[in-house]
Amino acid sequence: MNKKWALITGASAGIGAEFATQLAAKGWSLVLVARRAEKLTELKETITNQHQVHCHDLVMDLSDVEANRNIFDYCQNNDIQVSMLINNAGYGVPGDFDAVEWKTHQDMLQVMLNSLVELCHLFFPSMKQAQQGYIINVASLAGLTPPTAAHTLYGALKSFVIKFSHSLHLEAKDFSVHVTALCPGFTYTEFHDVNGTRSMVNQMSKKLWMSASDVVSQGLLAVEKNQGVYINGWRNRMIAGMCKYLPEGMVRYLMKGSVAKFRKR
Ligand SMILES: NC(=O)c1ccc[n+]([C@@H]2O[C@H](COP(=O)([O-])OP(=O)(O)OC[C@H]3O[C@@H](n4cnc5c(N)ncnc54)[C@H](OP(=O)(O)O)[C@@H]3O)[C@@H](O)[C@H]2O)c1
Repeated sequence: MNKKWALITGASAGIGAEFATQLAAKGWSLVLVARRAEKLTELKETITNQHQVHCHDLVMDLSDVEANRNIFDYCQNNDIQVSMLINNAGYGVPGDFDAVEWKTHQDMLQVMLNSLVELCHLFFPSMKQAQQGYIINVASLAGLTPPTAAHTLYGALKSFVIKFSHSLHLEAKDFSVHVTALCPGFTYTEFHDVNGTRSMVNQMSKKLWMSASDVVSQGLLAVEKNQGVYINGWRNRMIAGMCKYLPEGMVRYLMKGSVAKFRKR
């Protein structure tokens, strides 16, 4: 049996589950991390029935500050040498900043910032030593577009993920470790059901949406090629290019009433 190990956070649904499915088909053994045990067990059974790979399901809440160390210790204790880390777990929180209770903000910062950075800090050294490894940090187009009112932390966190991953990419390339910030735009997953904006985003043009399957296959190709930042889809790349090269005031004007319309206050 193949012994290349990938660890995926947020593997119980959407983009994370798709990473698990595509990587298993390529012969990777997996450590799947998320909170919903039944979903992870179901995915693990499907994967191990279809592919000759190992699969561990690890039920963890990444908002728990001990979770990252526990994940790392679990891998050490089970002789799992992680050579691909996919930091994917994430969600959006609707509402204005002060209307959201502090615990919710705190958990979001822990899951989407501290956990992502700490897991890189825990797993990167052994990749560097092995002179081989892959890290994909799932960011978002929202990290490259102008800020909006409501969902206040989301865009800021994703901007952080992009810049952090790009720095790590520059450090890691001297050691043959590939690091990519993956920036999907609107993707069909459970994301908008979880944050309660499904009916709002359903009004958006279908052209702006991508499948998780395309997002993931492109992401795997991008990390293989060691692209520091990869934006999924030409439409999203065009939006990101517009945000980068046009004056900010003009971008805000052009985007007024588009993205903001889909933010729940
Ligand atoms: N869908 C989009 O339009 C879109 C666009 C750009 C970027 N993204 C990013 O893509 C990533 C994946 O999102 P998705 O679209 O696949 O959404 P999704 O279908 O809702 O999946 C989110 C995953 O994150 C996990 N998760 C959430 N909170 C967690 C916690 N506290 N501890 C551990 N796991 C947790 C969920 O598992 P449990 O609930 O079982 O814990 C689930 O597996 C996110 O980082 C998101 O920001 C999504």
